[in-house]
Amino acid sequence: MSVSWHLACIDCATTYGGDTLRVRCDCGGVLDVVHAPVSVAGGQLRELFDGRLASKAPIDRSGVWRFRELVLPVAQAHIVTKPEGNTNLYDAPSVAAWVGVGALRLKHEGENPSGSFKDRGMTAGVTMARLHGMRVVACASTGNTSASMAAYAAQASMGAVVFIPDGKIAFGKLSQALAYGAKTIQIRGDFDAAMRLVEEVCDAEGIYLVNSINPFRVEGQKAIGLELMQDLDWNVPDWIVLPGGNLGNSAALWKGLSEAHAAGLIDRVPRIAVVQAAGANPLVRAWTTGAPLEPVAAETLATAIRIGNPVSWKKSLRGVVASGGVVTDVTDQEIVDAKAIVDRAGIAAEPASCATVAGLKKLVSAGVIAPDATVCGVLTGHVLKDPGTVVDYHRGELPGILSTYANPPVVCDADLPSVLAALRG
Ligand code: F0G
Repeated sequence: MSVSWHLACIDCATTYGGDTLRVRCDCGGVLDVVHAPVSVAGGQLRELFDGRLASKAPIDRSGVWRFRELVLPVAQAHIVTKPEGNTNLYDAPSVAAWVGVGALRLKHEGENPSGSFKDRGMTAGVTMARLHGMRVVACASTGNTSASMAAYAAQASMGAVVFIPDGKIAFGKLSQALAYGAKTIQIRGDFDAAMRLVEEVCDAEGIYLVNSINPFRVEGQKAIGLELMQDLDWNVPDWIVLPGGNLGNSAALWKGLSEAHAAGLIDRVPRIAVVQAAGANPLVRAWTTGAPLEPVAAETLATAIRIGNPVSWKKSLRGVVASGGVVTDVTDQEIVDAKAIVDRAGIAAEPASCATVAGLKKLVSAGVIAPDATVCGVLTGHVLKDPGTVVDYHRGELPGILSTYANPPVVCDADLPSVLAALRG
């Protein structure tokens, strides 16, 4: 198989051919996909990508493969696409007022086919699996990666094995993995334990690992930034704010935007703000101390980002530093308050997504992000991924949490006077 890219270790710079199935360097470091320079000029690339918006071909309609020259130039026949992306960029004035900025736009990645941003990376990961003739794919997951992988593997008629932390996964996500037919292994342990195990299992069993440690997942995930720039007619905002867990998304966002900049597609790279949950904030600690990341025992109600030993932390930090960005964290209380505001705006997203808005509010209050800055936030997952947290919040039943913006259901007898009393009360 001849390909136009190669892989390079971000630690020791060892390079490998682009057709290898490895996901780590021999030194243990993580790998980047390094592309040959794009031969098309920036202005022409913009025209090419914009022109595809009018196409009906699935690979042009995909918010990943529409940008294939910058994502992964593979033959169309191999591509496994639903198609993904094409998520809305909402103007959110009530959320902007709450966080203290003049304007705010929210890119809702929960509108992807499986309900989270993971579909962008997964279309690339499963495409690579098909390209290599792999029959089974696997991942460890807090829920969304497994839902997405199970959906794409089913579409490609591949086997799927997911490793999830027992009891710490939102029901919407668990149901998806089961429904799409993935073999679902609930580890008596946390995500970090599942992540360690899945790498060993994949090595032992010859299964293709499609966690975001897989460099091709990152290539697909890059399209989140490219599509956002296209939504903005290629006008670059000052800041992009997004949540961080295993840290593949922030790593991919920066890689995509810096490559787009190098290709002349955009005139600068926005600053990137990564927001972690306070109970799962190893990147914040590394950022603050300047020391290598020390794993933590993670705990947060935002189960999607309940991760203490993120595999892509070096790649993520590289992007934050290069973009002049920041890393911050927010409490569970701040996350659910922000979620209530996002939900009430009619946009609605799962808890981890709303760390974006909580983090933005914190950064505005701290004077890091100016009120007149142009800001886009990424919402990563659909509100229905985690209905349990929504209902418990509005009923005032989340342990240790104040339901500041509660909208509890009203129970009443089944007669007109009772219903009218409930309505008017
Ligand atoms: N938001 C949601 C809804 C997520 O599911 C995740 C990660 C993140 C944010 C963090 O993104 O890991 O790229 O920094 N979920 C993974 C999973 C870990 O298994 O579904 P990240």
